[in-house]
Amino acid sequence: MARSAYKLLEINEKKNLILIGHRVIDLGSAPGSWLQVSEKLTGRRGRVLGIDLQELNHPFGPNVLHFVADVFTTPPEVLLEPFGGRKANVLLSDMAPNTTGHGDDHLSARLCRRVLELAPSILKPGGNLLMKVLEGGDMPALMEETRALFREVGATKPAASRDVSREIFIWAKGFQGTLENDEVPQSPANKHKIAPKAPAGWGSVVADSRSPESKADPKKGESGGASLPG
Ligand SMILES: C[S@@+](CC[C@H](N)C(=O)[O-])C[C@H]1O[C@@H](n2cnc3c(N)ncnc32)[C@H](O)[C@@H]1O
Repeated sequence: MARSAYKLLEINEKKNLILIGHRVIDLGSAPGSWLQVSEKLTGRRGRVLGIDLQELNHPFGPNVLHFVADVFTTPPEVLLEPFGGRKANVLLSDMAPNTTGHGDDHLSARLCRRVLELAPSILKPGGNLLMKVLEGGDMPALMEETRALFREVGATKPAASRDVSREIFIWAKGFQGTLENDEVPQSPANKHKIAPKAPAGWGSVVADSRSPESKADPKKGESGGASLPG
């Protein structure tokens, strides 16, 4: 199993973020280790949706679906289509920017802020969050922004993370965002964005809604090194 899988297992062991029967949205899901872990943790009644700029080349069971998509251009209602419009119990993000050595922490914080921006539209009240961030100047503000939305918030570096890695995982429980029902707002702006068609079923790659920029550079956003789940 890939190292990233152990990070999620270790954090979930302590925090119980993902439970049997949960609907999980995994942002930045390729090559698929967190999907594999989430699939196991949620069991036969669970549903797991992953999105990433990259394709998966590993087949998953019938409860896992994957979109090739960019989180910055994917409207929230598209993420809920596979759940029949119902919000997720858990939002995961292991997203990482292309590392350049300069300003990577800011790019990482920008990805986290997109996760927090999406949360009111796609995460159930009371829902849980786990997101990766590269430690840096944005960290205190990001913690505050997360605290404003959740009942309980903390940061952890799992033992499975390499010692030299600057990655930290912000976990949060008890979402108390502003949208209190399961309605997904249909903003006029969203209507103009590319929306993948609703999937006919689970367990297959159904759409590619990456931005033209990302399609032109298929390696954009890749930070990986993690191997496919075995
Ligand atoms: C460390 S990998 C994720 C590993 C994954 N959690 C696993 O266990 O296999 C980070 C991923 O974030 C994705 N990513 C970065 N920016 C993204 C964006 N704007 N939209 C969607 N995915 C993005 C990258 O393509 C990359 O696959």
